[in-house]
Amino acid sequence: MSEQDIKKGLAGVVVDTTAVSKVVQETNSLTYRGYPVQELAAACSFEEVAYLIWHGELPTRAQLDEFTRSERDKREIDPQLVDLLLSLPRDSHPMHVVQTAVAYLGAVDPHADETGEEANRRIAERLYAQLPTIVAIDHRRRHGLDPVAPSKDLGYAANFFHMVFDEVPAEEIVRAFDISMILYAEHSFNASTFTARVITSTTSDMYSAVAGAVGALKGPLHGGANEAVMAMLEEVGTADRASEWIDRALAEKKKIMGFGHRVYKNGDSRVPTMRKAFESMVEVTGDTQLLDLYNAFEEDFVGRKGIYPNLDYPSGPAYHLMGFDTEQFTPIFVMARITGWTAHIMEQQAANALIRPLSAYDGQEQREVPADRG
Ligand code: SDX
Repeated sequence: MSEQDIKKGLAGVVVDTTAVSKVVQETNSLTYRGYPVQELAAACSFEEVAYLIWHGELPTRAQLDEFTRSERDKREIDPQLVDLLLSLPRDSHPMHVVQTAVAYLGAVDPHADETGEEANRRIAERLYAQLPTIVAIDHRRRHGLDPVAPSKDLGYAANFFHMVFDEVPAEEIVRAFDISMILYAEHSFNASTFTARVITSTTSDMYSAVAGAVGALKGPLHGGANEAVMAMLEEVGTADRASEWIDRALAEKKKIMGFGHRVYKNGDSRVPTMRKAFESMVEVTGDTQLLDLYNAFEEDFVGRKGIYPNLDYPSGPAYHLMGFDTEQFTPIFVMARITGWTAHIMEQQAANALIRPLSAYDGQEQREVPADRG
């Protein structure tokens, strides 16, 4: 096998079909079930998009009412899970906390191994409804605060703010958050979704596949980048220091967080919408210094390398201005991507083939085990 036959990182390899979303490299466009993501972000709520991702069609008014009622009924987590979350070290990585909670939900579900449409929907909706409660409790315990119970009177995004901060902020903030959830919901065969599909391909259960996907999303080359962007901007500090900071980072061969993408080479179609949402947070908070830094950094780096921002570049500072701790940004990404992951898990189950590629061996030639091993 020659070097050229090895597709390192599976770059450019098409491994299966999907009807969930379409990423078009040439036009940098993204559709969910045929709808352009920026149109969905402009016209829909995250709840409608979650329904679309699972059911293939946008809900009617009556379907949406039933779907949101069911989500609101499932938000509460069982007291043992609350105790488990509160018992974890305060400095545990928040993605480990999320992963632990997902594994727990699997461990206490006597029907975890059931498959088929109804069973899959039940588990997917349970995770979708309970992940915000889990992430909010984790945020509060880190601040030494008691959990705030979910409210059935609030929509998905407003309820999340209520559970994290014990108050619902201005409408623009809730809407900007909802938009970020829509943009983060799904993105074809990214590393975490592919992880979920690999696990599903062994006929393992949905909880196991999601726990694995959480692990894959944690890394800064993938979902962990939204946190890394904010840490980077904080380290740079002000717009006038961007250029010098980039000089040094590139000299040290560092990857610049929030820039570049395996598929998009001329820009990520989600960025303009998220950038607008970030700008609306700057308007609400008056933090123009962060916007100046954001612009100066982007202009400098894109000018030098021709490598464009991905969704994590605007979402990191937007979440910061919404008041979230940097370490919670990737768990927030999980809350959105649970919709895409579970849709792919269902798709993988429906037309399964074990995912098991080949490797080219470059180790020792075959040899005999010596009788005398010294
Ligand atoms: C997400 O796949 C998805 O869809 C993911 C995602 C989703 O919705 O699921 O869109 C979410 O994960 C976004 C990506 C978040 N990660 C980052 O922002 C981390 C920084 N970005 C990079 O490390 C990088 O761009 C990747 C990991 C995103 C993509 O990497 P590739 O496709 O493996 O490309 P590469 O690392 O081989 O880079 C190719 C060239 C290299 O230069 P040369 O060696 O050819 O000279 O581009 C350079 C790289 O050094 N490069 C960068 C860079 N990104 C690419 N150099 C500096 N900083 C960067 N960010």
